[in-house]
Amino acid sequence: MARLAIVTSGGDCPGINAVIRAVAKTAINDYHMEIVGILDGFLGLIENRWRKLTYNDVSGIITQGGTILGTSNKADPFRYPIGKKGEESEFGDVSDTAIANFEKTGASALIAIGGDGTLHIAQKLYEKGVPVIGVPKTIDNDVLCTDVTFGFDSAVATATEAIDKIHTTAQSHHRVMFVEVMGRYVGWLALFAGVAGGGDVILIPEMPFDTDIIAKRVVERSRKGKRFSIVVVAEGARAASGDIVVRRIVRESTDPVRLGGIADHIAYEIEKRTKLETRVTVLGHLQRGGSPTAFDRVLATRFGSCAAQLAAQGEKGIMVALKGQEIVTVPIADAIAGLKRVPKDHDLIKSALCVGTSFGVP
Ligand code: F6P
Repeated sequence: MARLAIVTSGGDCPGINAVIRAVAKTAINDYHMEIVGILDGFLGLIENRWRKLTYNDVSGIITQGGTILGTSNKADPFRYPIGKKGEESEFGDVSDTAIANFEKTGASALIAIGGDGTLHIAQKLYEKGVPVIGVPKTIDNDVLCTDVTFGFDSAVATATEAIDKIHTTAQSHHRVMFVEVMGRYVGWLALFAGVAGGGDVILIPEMPFDTDIIAKRVVERSRKGKRFSIVVVAEGARAASGDIVVRRIVRESTDPVRLGGIADHIAYEIEKRTKLETRVTVLGHLQRGGSPTAFDRVLATRFGSCAAQLAAQGEKGIMVALKGQEIVTVPIADAIAGLKRVPKDHDLIKSALCVGTSFGVP
């Protein structure tokens, strides 16, 4: 029986299981194919760990967050830790092993569900002859060639709910509350959750901020009788005069830099300059957890069923994407040509400015 393999790699997000379900059910129902799931991302391909997925395995998982297959953001077959030199890991190319193990699964194609890092690996595997179909996943929404990645809407919903809760305590204590959200080097999550949560100031990497402008805005609000402010900060935001703040380096990862901590820096500066009391909440991995929103379940189902159809028809080297209302395909190579950043003239920035939100810029 013909087979398809699925790998979920990189940081998890709500909706991955909905994609797995859609791929598997489409392949089983419409093409009478079998499905194998690679365990723990590309690590499973390197270590030859995978299992057959039955119809029952993928039934009832549309609502579940995370991934039933497990994932890893530290297992790049093209740069894999193969030993130690002193304290430091030494890296080597084990992609031939990964490809040999892929062949052992008996699958005719690999559906790679992941973000920027995963899609880079998928493209390199494709260039070495593995028939790959990509499915764009990430709460960061930073993948090119698709209007949106699945997982983003769920993360926006979670962050918005958190900002709503911060609002009430901010009001009671008359504080300036900083909420740091994820998003890596782009500001989509901060922008959408910031607007949805009625943030007074939103700081995104695409618009390096001026701390004095933020201070002026919260003082102005206070003078007008609004004795609290909400500042939504993307983890990748930075002052025009400063740098991004790095929390840690994960050398084995496709992108070793882990951001975090910028909100603490700004809050400290704002308290010093305004004498208003500040507090910081870092939402962290909460944003990647929980059940997907209805939007993400629908998008994941559309992406997954389309990916299975393409794989069954022998297509390869392409990624499914959303353009307007349509599911389309694009070369994976185009999707990894850069990061999808928030354009400074994005209509949501314009709308936010219209309702009085500051981006901390002149
Ligand atoms: O890419 C998804 C993401 O959650 C980013 O928003 C964040 O910067 C990063 O992953 C965190 O990675 P980790 O799970 O390794 O801490």
